[in-house]
Amino acid sequence: MLRDSFGRVATDLRVSLTDRCNLRCSYCMPPEGLEWLPKPELLTADEIVRLVTLAVERLGVTEVRYTGGEPLLRRELVDIVARTSSLRPAPQVSLTTNGIGLVRLAAPLAEAGLSRVNVSLDTLDRETFRKLAHRDRLHDVLDGLAAADAAGLRPVKVNSVLMRGVNDHEAAALLRHCLERGYELRFIEQMPLDAQHGWSRENMITAEEILAALRQDFDLTDADPGERGSAPAELFLVDGGPARVGVIGSVTRPFCGSCDRVRLTADGQVRNCLFATDESDLRSAMRAGASDEELAERWLAAVRIKKAGHGIDDPSFLQPSRPMSAIGG
Ligand code: GTP
Ligand code: 5AD
Ligand code: SF4
Repeated sequence: MLRDSFGRVATDLRVSLTDRCNLRCSYCMPPEGLEWLPKPELLTADEIVRLVTLAVERLGVTEVRYTGGEPLLRRELVDIVARTSSLRPAPQVSLTTNGIGLVRLAAPLAEAGLSRVNVSLDTLDRETFRKLAHRDRLHDVLDGLAAADAAGLRPVKVNSVLMRGVNDHEAAALLRHCLERGYELRFIEQMPLDAQHGWSRENMITAEEILAALRQDFDLTDADPGERGSAPAELFLVDGGPARVGVIGSVTRPFCGSCDRVRLTADGQVRNCLFATDESDLRSAMRAGASDEELAERWLAAVRIKKAGHGIDDPSFLQPSRPMSAIGG
């Protein structure tokens, strides 16, 4: 088991399949994009499957989530999902995506064993989308969401990062949109992970502000008193339920104490935390001929030294050098 020195056990593996993206959301990437990882440094599909297999069969991982950048841009995605969802014991395999491409891929992914998707949607306004993501693709995202739902990738979850003066007036509209379609919406506090280092505490819309704004239009009651476990989202019943809305207060209401996550970057580094400063290089070890036993040892050692929390409030906090798009959220 991937146990750290505080007794937390990592059972949820998040695998970034690429650092590339077809959007440029301002909380993640600059408009001009970033210098992408060189192709030879990316894990191949076989290497990814080998590491996920190791995690599931030997290290106690029960949930695998593919992320990016944008994971739908990875050509072998359906193959990777098929090969890893059929492992034993069967992991739950899910995807976090910007939704562009789901129209084509939702059905094949469901067929390959994908269980569900989380899709980013920060605005319902075409012009705001264009400003925020620097691409005119709102319709592709909305169509992608509908395709995921139609393919049975449920519950379809929607992630919204609210930003002051950009889309913070849309909280109620986003919730109505999702309620009407049966999607589970979660609002996310923006974290200091953008490549441009543009995050500021003052500009961040807090979980408290989000809840206050929603309560002007909806009645919210705690949906899971005392049962949040390791889930990042605090869930609320909307107008008595059963529909729910979530708030992911990573900054002001951190869930680090019960974190059950470990990450693998597209270039094969284990990160024990979103905010980790150190990584462990499984790719080089694998390419130098390491056995499964040796890779497992490295992975266990990397998780053992996980820090207690993200430390965003510490005076000595330093944003990790790897941006969100290369970690996968
Ligand atoms: P579900 O299992 O469907 O609830 O997924 P999730 O909410 O854990 O994953 P998703 O990829 O949709 O991420 C939603 C938000 O939670 C994103 O902003 C992530 O960056 C954030 N998040 C995911 N894992 C962690 C984590 O370990 N720590 C922190 N602070 N935030 C995280
Ligand atoms: N802070 C919080 N969430 C972020 N995401 C991307 N960048 C940030 C950030 N700086 C979210 C996206 C996506 C998920 C993977 O992480 O909206 O849904
Ligand atoms: Fe936006 Fe996700 Fe792409 Fe970042 S990785 S630019 S959050 S879609």
